[in-house]
Amino acid sequence: MELDEILGQIERELEAIKDENDLANVKIRLLGRKGLFSSLFENMKNIPQESRKEFGKRLNLLKVETEERIKKLEIDFEEKRKRKKEGASKIDITLPGKIPLVGKKHPITITFEEIIRIFTSLGFEVTEGPEVELDYYNFEALNIPKDHPARDMQDTFYIKEDVVLRTHTSPVQIRTMEAKKPPIRVIAPGAVYRCDQDISHTPMFHQVEGLMVDKNVRFSDLKGILTVFAREMFGEDVAVRFRPSYFPFTEPSAEVDIGCVICEGKGCRVCKDTGWLEILGSGMVHPQVLRNVGYDPEEVTGFAFGMGVERIAMIKFGIDDIRQFYYNDLRFLSQF
Ligand code: FA5
Ligand code: MG
Repeated sequence: MELDEILGQIERELEAIKDENDLANVKIRLLGRKGLFSSLFENMKNIPQESRKEFGKRLNLLKVETEERIKKLEIDFEEKRKRKKEGASKIDITLPGKIPLVGKKHPITITFEEIIRIFTSLGFEVTEGPEVELDYYNFEALNIPKDHPARDMQDTFYIKEDVVLRTHTSPVQIRTMEAKKPPIRVIAPGAVYRCDQDISHTPMFHQVEGLMVDKNVRFSDLKGILTVFAREMFGEDVAVRFRPSYFPFTEPSAEVDIGCVICEGKGCRVCKDTGWLEILGSGMVHPQVLRNVGYDPEEVTGFAFGMGVERIAMIKFGIDDIRQFYYNDLRFLSQF
């Protein structure tokens, strides 16, 4: 074999090396005991005497050179492997940290808990009723017969003829009075549904019903309890207003308004330019309702109220659109 050919073969072998595996194989093929150089040296005896010495010298040089190149490739691969390993385990302490997202309570949950805390501290027990309710409990027993115009006050979702999504928590009044005898002091928190939607109304919202029935319960008790509630909830200086109203199941009836905190009473789109936000309906339990559950209105009297939890949360947190509570936007929800 001519020296030029040998050189070409070595060059091709070295250039084709892609990884450490290739390198190990090439090393064996060129420098191994049965490799290229071994066989070339063995073949030297066939070379004519006069050129043998010169050929041997050149071949030796080439072998040394090849050994050096392979050694260098081995070192390069080794280095690369080390750097890769270091890179994977190295922690860059100058990078800004990742802040984990921590879950929070929904503002309506926070408000519920606060309302419940205040009323339980006043001696009220917590009870509940179903969201899918019989027409009888939602309307009939509350002194709202089928053809009564008061049914138009609440846009009702009907499940079937006699079954509705409850439009308020007031049916729990009836269920509670049917189940026990006075004295009664309960609150009933929960979801209610009405076909209604704008910046202060959502089709699903929450109420907390309140009911107190005993001997000699008077309107002044109602006013006292609800005023204490408003001060605990919104602070001592809150503006509270009892406004005469009408509900078929209470007589007399009153709605309670809180001074609008969004505009501080000046008038805005949330309070519809009145300076006040209605938070609840209330009144003395109607004698007919007491009779409907088998109570004697000559024996016992009572008051009831139903407050809108979203409205209270809007006032407490200064939210000017009730629908914000239900967009599930984390930028909003993470502020509470
Ligand atoms: C009632 O639902 C009566 N059941 C309240 C009641 C209970 C009166 C016991 C007397 C005795 P009203 O429809 O006004 O009343 O609703 C009560 C409160 O729920 C309102 O003051 C308001 O704060 C809130 N509310 C009413 N509709 C919506 C709505 N679509 N979205 C959000 N809040 C509402
Ligand atoms: Mg009302």
